[in-house]
Amino acid sequence: MLQTGEQLYHALLVELAQANTEQQVYQCKSKFLGRNGSITRLVKQIPTLPLHERAVAGRELNRLKSDAEQAIEKRLRDIIECKKQQQLQQSVVDVTLPGRTPPLGALHPITLTTRNIVSIFAAMGFSVVEGPEIELDFFNFEALNIPKDHPARDMHDTFYIDDEILLRTHTSPVQIRTMQDSKPPLRIICPGKVYRCDSDISHTPMFHQVEGLLVDCSVSLSDLKGVLIQFLHNIFDAHTAVRFRPSFFPFTEPSAEVDIACVMCKGTGCRVCSGTGWLEILGCGMVHPAVFRNVGYDPETVSGFAFGLGVERIAMLLYGINDIRLFFENDIRFLSQFI
Ligand code: FA5
Ligand code: MG
Repeated sequence: MLQTGEQLYHALLVELAQANTEQQVYQCKSKFLGRNGSITRLVKQIPTLPLHERAVAGRELNRLKSDAEQAIEKRLRDIIECKKQQQLQQSVVDVTLPGRTPPLGALHPITLTTRNIVSIFAAMGFSVVEGPEIELDFFNFEALNIPKDHPARDMHDTFYIDDEILLRTHTSPVQIRTMQDSKPPLRIICPGKVYRCDSDISHTPMFHQVEGLLVDCSVSLSDLKGVLIQFLHNIFDAHTAVRFRPSFFPFTEPSAEVDIACVMCKGTGCRVCSGTGWLEILGCGMVHPAVFRNVGYDPETVSGFAFGLGVERIAMLLYGINDIRLFFENDIRFLSQFI
């Protein structure tokens, strides 16, 4: 019986050596060690042996059986390892290939321009203040010397929420809120979104302004001109031509609008400047005495200037963009140029 066992074991080793797939190994296992396998059948015959032979036969056949199991396990491991190596070789990674760069986000050109504007004024000692975009009629108009029936209301095409509440049409209400809350001297800028029912190549219903306000003793128009020219020469070219054009705002007196020589055509006239050679970028003036009185300041002792500039207009000029609506279409091909 032991001899038969040895023969079977060797037959198993030969078959295992020929088995090249896991499936073949399992077939081999069932042939020898399965419920009806030849080695199993041999083990089942042990009880039929004479008593004195059983112990030796039992020990030897069990050793043989466990050797057989180990040989099968080893063959399986070898086949699996070999398969893995083959797969690894087939999917070789070419470490010399250039990597794929993940797309990077970037700041919006309006954010970049706002930061640029804020940092220039910050260097001149202005600090940043913010106000609400949903505003009371009182702050947006009344306190700025624009009563309900004033024709100047037509200058702003307003989105009203109800009779008293509206989307602010400019950043000037932040002037009023700040003066109500603090005593002079004041030197602030207020960047933020504003809304008007307006849309064409140089107007959008939502746009950004930066308001400026300086209040102190004996502030003059030349201080206003000095600060704004300094700012414009800083953000554009130091040689950019600047002109102050008399204008009207109910909350400043005198008032002016500031134009710079069109950066597209250098002042010769083009589509962007409607052939005039000049581009309007901000409104400004000396704070009106009525506004000071509305916030409890004495116009006899304090004076000041204010200005409000359009951020999109400045960004268009800085980056050479001829349609303001491009800023808000969220076309990634446009936006990715400002990294
Ligand atoms: C005002 O809004 C005043 N509050 C400015 C001001 C502040 C004057 C303080 C005096 C003292 P105006 O409506 O002109 O003024 O707008 C100011 C700037 O905002 C314009 O010069 C222009 O650059 C920009 N702007 C106006 N409307 C639009 C619009 N629909 N889309 C984009 N930019 C606009
Ligand atoms: Mg204007």
